Amino acid sequence: MRVLSGFQPSGKLHVGNYFGAMKPNLDLHRENEGFLFIANYHALTTVHDPAALREQTRDVALDFLACGLDPEKTAFYRQSDIPEVHELAWLLSIVTPMGLLERCHSYKDKLAKGIAASHGLFAYPVLMASDILIVQSDVVPVGKDQKQHVEVTRDIAIKFNNQFGEVFRIPEPVIAEEVAVVPGLDGQKMSKSYGNTLEIFGPAKEIKKRIMSIATDSRPLEAPKDPEGNNVFKLFKLFATPEQREEMARKFRAGGYGYGSAKKELFEAFDAYFAPMREKRAALEKDMGYVESVLQKGAEKARTIGRETLFRARKAVGLD
Ligand code: ADP
Ligand code: TRP
Repeated sequence: MRVLSGFQPSGKLHVGNYFGAMKPNLDLHRENEGFLFIANYHALTTVHDPAALREQTRDVALDFLACGLDPEKTAFYRQSDIPEVHELAWLLSIVTPMGLLERCHSYKDKLAKGIAASHGLFAYPVLMASDILIVQSDVVPVGKDQKQHVEVTRDIAIKFNNQFGEVFRIPEPVIAEEVAVVPGLDGQKMSKSYGNTLEIFGPAKEIKKRIMSIATDSRPLEAPKDPEGNNVFKLFKLFATPEQREEMARKFRAGGYGYGSAKKELFEAFDAYFAPMREKRAALEKDMGYVESVLQKGAEKARTIGRETLFRARKAVGLD
């Protein structure tokens, strides 16, 4: 089975991104033929600062390699190294009804957030369809917000195949439903836009300070507490072994155990969990030549398959 994942380079990796998107993707990639790319053409719809785009693109590359992407198994590349996606996007756009794009929630949500309506933002799902179809992927793991785009991709592919002959595999979206929303420091969903994140590769001192600032109730130290109801425990569960979880839950229920101590344990668990990844990231940062070679090699693989798909699509429409 062929799996394709795409990630926009959109800022510093946080615990919500890691458990909600990155880890489930990496787990799926370990067992399948994987393609994973940095969606920098897509990011241009909202990021118009060249230095920021460069830095964020580099960050995603380092983050994924540090967090366990195996470049021998998964072709890892920058979207912009496969310019063929644009030609294919054009061929797809001729069978894409306007109404299909007008119904996309993500476009409407972005306008509601104040992002200027542009052709790029509107046509985004066609480029995404091209990313998916060009490598003939069978499954596309996405968050709930991106499911509609994969459905749009299916509609476009079916329409193209019906009109011009079988060129594309029809992909399925895979939604990681079981991944719970990771709470932020204030108990809302952890998100960059709420400023309530724990950055995975942030400085330890800053992380500790942020963990100590997690919102809790004001029950006194002696009072027994329900572990399920508090953010410190919800976050601790992500990093802890089953035994460690049980132990902290028991201490909360027994009373005489305060949030301050639990926060210290959370920091230690966080630190231990991400230590190997932090070390790997620091080593990779000193070897950007290697990182670049991984991305080039990944692009070569995706491009070989992409060119073949594009060739067939061109032929099907009469551009041979
Ligand atoms: P942010 O909300 O910080 O801007 P993004 O929207 O860039 O994060 O999210 C990137 C990916 O990480 C998405 O697939 C999203 O579903 C996942 N994700 C982000 N925050 C969380 C969270 N708090 N819990 C679970 N998954 C999350
Ligand atoms: N639209 C996706 C997001 O914002 C990123 C993306 C672009 C993508 N092309 C893709 C995801 C193809 C999966 C497949 O998160």
